[in-house]
Amino acid sequence: MSSGSRRASQFLQEKEDEVPQWIPGLGTDKPRPRTLGTSFFGYVPDAFVEKTPFLPSEKKATTPTPKNGETKEAEDKSEEAPNGQYLDPSSSKEFQRDMDASSDEGVVTEEVVMPQRVERRAAEPWDTQSVDSTDGSAQNRLLIKGGRVVNDDMMQDADVYIEDGIIKQVGTNLHTPGGTKVVEAKGHLVMPGGIDTHTHMQLPFMGTFAIDDFYTGTRAALAGGTTMIMDFAIPQKGESLVEAYHRWRSWADPKVCCDYALHVAVTWWSDKVGKEMEELTEEHGINSFKMFMAYKDTWQLDDHDLLESFKQCKEIGALAQVHAENGDVIKENSAKLLDMGITGPEGHELSRPEEVEAEATNRACVLSNQIGCPLYICNIMSKSAASALGEHRRRGNLVWGETIAAALGTDGSHYYNPCWQHAAGHVLSPPLRNDSSTPSSLMELLDVGDLQTTGTDNCTFTASQKALGKDNFTKIPNGVNGVEDRMSVIWEKGVVSGKMDPCKFVAVTSTNAAKIFNIYPKKGRIAVGSDADIVVWNPHATRIISAKTHYQAVDFNIFEGMEVHGVADYVICHGRVVVEEGNVRAVSGMGKFVPTPNYSPYVYGRVQERDIANAPKKVERAPYDGPVVQLNNQGLTQAVEGSIIPTNQEFYTRGPTRCGGLNLHDSSFHVSGRQIDDDIRPRTSIKLLSPCNGTSWGIISNSKFYQTYNAKYDGL
Ligand code: URP
Ligand code: ZN
Repeated sequence: MSSGSRRASQFLQEKEDEVPQWIPGLGTDKPRPRTLGTSFFGYVPDAFVEKTPFLPSEKKATTPTPKNGETKEAEDKSEEAPNGQYLDPSSSKEFQRDMDASSDEGVVTEEVVMPQRVERRAAEPWDTQSVDSTDGSAQNRLLIKGGRVVNDDMMQDADVYIEDGIIKQVGTNLHTPGGTKVVEAKGHLVMPGGIDTHTHMQLPFMGTFAIDDFYTGTRAALAGGTTMIMDFAIPQKGESLVEAYHRWRSWADPKVCCDYALHVAVTWWSDKVGKEMEELTEEHGINSFKMFMAYKDTWQLDDHDLLESFKQCKEIGALAQVHAENGDVIKENSAKLLDMGITGPEGHELSRPEEVEAEATNRACVLSNQIGCPLYICNIMSKSAASALGEHRRRGNLVWGETIAAALGTDGSHYYNPCWQHAAGHVLSPPLRNDSSTPSSLMELLDVGDLQTTGTDNCTFTASQKALGKDNFTKIPNGVNGVEDRMSVIWEKGVVSGKMDPCKFVAVTSTNAAKIFNIYPKKGRIAVGSDADIVVWNPHATRIISAKTHYQAVDFNIFEGMEVHGVADYVICHGRVVVEEGNVRAVSGMGKFVPTPNYSPYVYGRVQERDIANAPKKVERAPYDGPVVQLNNQGLTQAVEGSIIPTNQEFYTRGPTRCGGLNLHDSSFHVSGRQIDDDIRPRTSIKLLSPCNGTSWGIISNSKFYQTYNAKYDGL
């Protein structure tokens, strides 16, 4: 054995000894019971002090306390920077309309709380090159050395060499240019940065704005190992989807510290909406549209409009998403509960029981299946909704499911906490379930593949914003945190508990999302040519989650006090070290918008074949030539008209049967070659009553979908 290969094998042996072999089922630590904060009711009193957002009447926000390793200087820069790129949403004419986004109970008109202003920051040492720099200088070269690379399908001990934001080499004994910066990853796992599929940064909602904006939210994401978020541009009813898209871009682009993509919501229906959906997919990098089945009177679509939007999604190769809850039932229940004097946060959970989520989940699956349109159910919060989805998946239907960190890490018992502030801090929709077995069940469904992705629905409101609903639970702004803690919570509850191995962890935190939203393997994989979005994960380190120490702007954390193994020691975004030994060095505006191309092969790969296989087929039979009753205007039988003897003497030569029916021994073709149905025009589409391969009723036609789809995939 050469000394080089001896060294290599010795090195690998050392690695084997140091890095635990993460095998499913061999978790060393059982999930711990939740320890809630230090106060009696579990919320952290100090956390509220520094994080309350400033109101319009206040001149200047209090400078937040610098976080671990984040210099005071950096914070000051953000406060003082003149000519910041941040666009104040309140200056737009759409601002007031956004403020009308309301609860199920109607429009909320309380005082509006403004989002915190964050200015563009000057670059820090690691960011002296512009994001686009491709000059190959030493600052753009990075070697992650000695770690174990984890992808969704394999683990290998390997170094990762990065240049200009792209992974250039993965392997051992790599040759790298001098001056390359080295990140020591011995004993660490080197994984694709997380993709949070569901966030709402600075969302205008229920009379206020989500307090974590595209700066604080994405900086917090990086701190926790997430290098890309997917947010939602949500137009109000009647508003242009394209305008909403541009508004969200103008909010996000100057502020994002990590990459982001957008889903666009369809909150009303018209032909114009359909055309705008097409424009968004063709010209603006949008490949998914979200429809709300809840939020009656504001964002909710009825079944007709859901069907129209599903049809259009299929036509343009986009993925339909739904928020699955029955908004009509919720409105009804909310009114009843308020009448009964139940005004507190428990009313939120009581008004939206599991079956209300499961019914909508099933209905959405049925409706999308009638169209043959791929469907993604967002934020699945309950076992029964997940099981409705699972049933449709087992029938071969084109449905995928996302759950969120909140549902995996905590439960709905908090709605019954005697502290109003604590209970309201957990209000989101669909709600957490008051069932302690839900988090582990959902985790198991992620492991077996019934659910595929994890987001957070990160949409944060401070205590004073939540207090808009202090006397009426329907006015509590819906939403919780998660973008910062998702990776750790899933690692703790999934991997440490022995429910999933690190490969599955990667699958559910990044790879599956990248595949579904058609950005794989640019994102969601450690491989040559992929974006250098990487988390160097320390599986041995632990931390205790708290609103006192988190990076998010919100003053509350639904995971308060939870001890989690798994810490993002280094985070690399676009090849830049943005978290170093746990310290965040984020730069607003350094993230990029990631266009998501339509016709994702992962979701559209079998649509055409499935439609062909399931195409309805006409049953060929001789026409009925017997008597036909005549109805009068009361629907009563009047008389029997018409001869029971067939009139087409060219074909029918035998008399009727003894009971007067058509003689089936008659021929349906003529010796001349003419057939009985020669005069009937062939139909352009056919429908199968009982297809053998699933039950989609997607009609085969020469629609734009097939023209575009075939053009795209011809020759594959
Ligand atoms: O509670 C939630 N989820 N708030 C954000 C709006 C939504 O429903 O996605
Ligand atoms: Zn949401």
